[in-house]
Amino acid sequence: MVETMENTTLEDRLRALIESSAALSSDLDLDVLLQRLIEIATRMTGARYAALGVLNEARSGLALFYTHGLDRDRALKEIGHLPAGHGLLGALIADPRPLRLDDLQQDPRSSGFPAGHPPMTNFLGVPVLVRGRVYGNLYLTEKAGGFTADDEELVSLLAGQAGIAIELSQRVARDSLRRVLQGQELERRRLARELHDETGQALTSILLGLKEVESSPDAAAVRAATQRLRELVVETLQDVRALAVELRPRALDDFGLTAALERLAEIFSQKSGLTVDVVAALGPARLPEEVETTLYRIAQEALTNVVKHSGAASASLVLRRRRDRVFLLVEDDGGGIQGEPRADAIGLVGMRERTALLGGQLRLESSANGTTVSVEVPVPPLAEGLS
Ligand SMILES: Nc1ncnc2c1ncn2[C@@H]1O[C@H](COP(=O)(O)OP(=O)(O)OP(=O)(O)O)[C@@H](O)[C@H]1O
Ligand SMILES: [Mg+2]
Repeated sequence: MVETMENTTLEDRLRALIESSAALSSDLDLDVLLQRLIEIATRMTGARYAALGVLNEARSGLALFYTHGLDRDRALKEIGHLPAGHGLLGALIADPRPLRLDDLQQDPRSSGFPAGHPPMTNFLGVPVLVRGRVYGNLYLTEKAGGFTADDEELVSLLAGQAGIAIELSQRVARDSLRRVLQGQELERRRLARELHDETGQALTSILLGLKEVESSPDAAAVRAATQRLRELVVETLQDVRALAVELRPRALDDFGLTAALERLAEIFSQKSGLTVDVVAALGPARLPEEVETTLYRIAQEALTNVVKHSGAASASLVLRRRRDRVFLLVEDDGGGIQGEPRADAIGLVGMRERTALLGGQLRLESSANGTTVSVEVPVPPLAEGLS
């Protein structure tokens, strides 16, 4: 290994670590953060190229790939695909120890460069490891004079920080998914109970009533019983329809969010006596399906909360669209949130999770005069002139 004049000084390395720690502790997107870490690695070692690959969950290949020092889009176009994680990169995953080479093409584990790949000679690769688990690798190439032991130490530290960031982000994503699934499960349980208790019982009474009719010799009694049974069927039908709307309102698929929310407001008014105004200014264009579903579910839970907890006489739903954002406001004139929520309360948590999954934000304001839930979600921009 050729040691060079271009050794990073201790001060350089300290500065690199301070920079990377600052990046880690700021609220950056994982993409931006990893990109910044490899940029620091490139600058501090004096390498020409750097890349960071993150393994997919199945560990069969790379899920994410970041580069620095080359025009990624152009290289991708010329090569036609991201590295599959074979060859040297695969070797770094199978045997996660730092690897320093003067000429990577000479290494027997190298699988060579695909056509269109820029030529590269010297190489420093380190695994991205957290508590012994490999998340990917970080590697640099083309340093004048070759990579040094100091470079290796510095890059390993940066790779460790990348690992922590990746692990954290995967854990947050998993937790959030788990909570959404838990919420769905609770909802299904409630609907199952309602189907069993309400609808099941109603159908059982109808069955018993029909039996009575069957064996009744008296025409007047048969007529009276039929009349009663017909009312019961009408009621049950209404219940089943309401349940179907709760599961997935047809209006949402057929007519869009505004129509679905107007229908929802009507149902709430009928059921609970709450006055619900809907003010919608979304324009003619439909929103992406997941945005419509999310905003609908949030409105549904927020109105349920109004009825359950607020004591409000009226509530309003306001929907607005700007060029690339949608806003939903659910306001009530009730008594506001009092005390801490139950430990197993999932409504507000679910609303936040759903919003976060779309990259949006939820704000909750509450006073003795009422509560407001406001949600802002990014959407693909409308064409100019329509906004
Ligand atoms: N509009 C509101 N007015 C007054 N209090 C509210 C309102 N919305 C929520 N709260 C309070 O916030 C708490 C948390 O709400 P959240 O929806 O998370 O749970 P929950 O409604 O109690 O239970 P779950 O939604 O899981 O069935 C409620 O228990 C209630 O005390
Ligand atoms: Mg609730």
